[in-house]
Amino acid sequence: MAFPTTRLRRLRRTDAMRSFVRETRLSPEGFVYPLFVCPGEGIRKEIRSMPGVYNLSVDEAVKEALEVKSLGIPSIILFGLPETKDEIATGAWADDGIVQKAARAIKREVPSLLLMGDVCLCEYMSHGHCGIVKKTGAPKGSETEYEILNDPSLEILAKTAVSQARAGMDIIAPSDMMDGRVAAIRKGLDASGFENIPVLSYAAKFASGFYGPFREAADSAPAFGDRRSYQMDSANLREAMREIQADLDEGADMIMVKPALAYLDVIAEARRRFDVPLAAYQVSGEYAMIKAAAQNNWIDHDRVMMETLTSIQRAGASIILTYFAKDVARLLA
Ligand code: PBG
Repeated sequence: MAFPTTRLRRLRRTDAMRSFVRETRLSPEGFVYPLFVCPGEGIRKEIRSMPGVYNLSVDEAVKEALEVKSLGIPSIILFGLPETKDEIATGAWADDGIVQKAARAIKREVPSLLLMGDVCLCEYMSHGHCGIVKKTGAPKGSETEYEILNDPSLEILAKTAVSQARAGMDIIAPSDMMDGRVAAIRKGLDASGFENIPVLSYAAKFASGFYGPFREAADSAPAFGDRRSYQMDSANLREAMREIQADLDEGADMIMVKPALAYLDVIAEARRRFDVPLAAYQVSGEYAMIKAAAQNNWIDHDRVMMETLTSIQRAGASIILTYFAKDVARLLA
């Protein structure tokens, strides 16, 4: 049936009608809010490039967790800024590591909040890479001067996951992109009696310019080189499907695509192919761009926030990690 019988504008005339036929309904129920925990007490230091996001000491992180819960957001993901860094990422797996301390304190005060642990080593390594680094003997300054060792890093990642589970994390989320890390982590968790703790793998994580502000927030910029030898090339959709398949074969319970906005096709294809819960991470740079443009009055903050998040959900993500979680929850309330 064509025009004039069909008039698509009939269903767009009023707010009530538009809302009635809306296909995608955003709600905080699938949101995860990231927290950056730092040493000290009473610390609440705003991250310059991420207005409204803070480095929080454990006591402040507990307050933040209470607020998040009260806004109807079910989950937080914890990142840590350790007191000291070294070349074996001790701060990542120490039982009194910053993230472990925060998890214990938050679990005590807000037991029903789902605690997600980001398992990665970059924040805890003096060189800022996500694995153990070896000098290869290749010419200085060449691309292969340093190698990020895969297999030796797996052991540390598994140890980190176990120590996070012991501290009360409900979900383990590896973000390092080493090959085989989901299997190593699953094995480690099972061997320590955590067979009921699920793994949400950052399965398709791209080497992205959108992580800029995060590296300031978590103080994790690589001291040399970049992450392209382990994170994915942004041009590759088919390879992303192989990464996801590999993580599922190794036992991942849920998968993630990251970043979100520049990878909506990857989200959509993952949704079509894989019948597991699918998460997307709207990363620091996506957040910072919207905040900065809105501060200049170049775009409408709330509209663009909702539009981008709706697009991520429409593409197929049912879980969204976003620094806007609190803003959206307030707007929808
Ligand atoms: C750790 C990690 C990163 C992010 C999440 N986990 C940074 C990176 O890979 O460089 C980025 C999150 C963001 O930008 O908001 N590897």
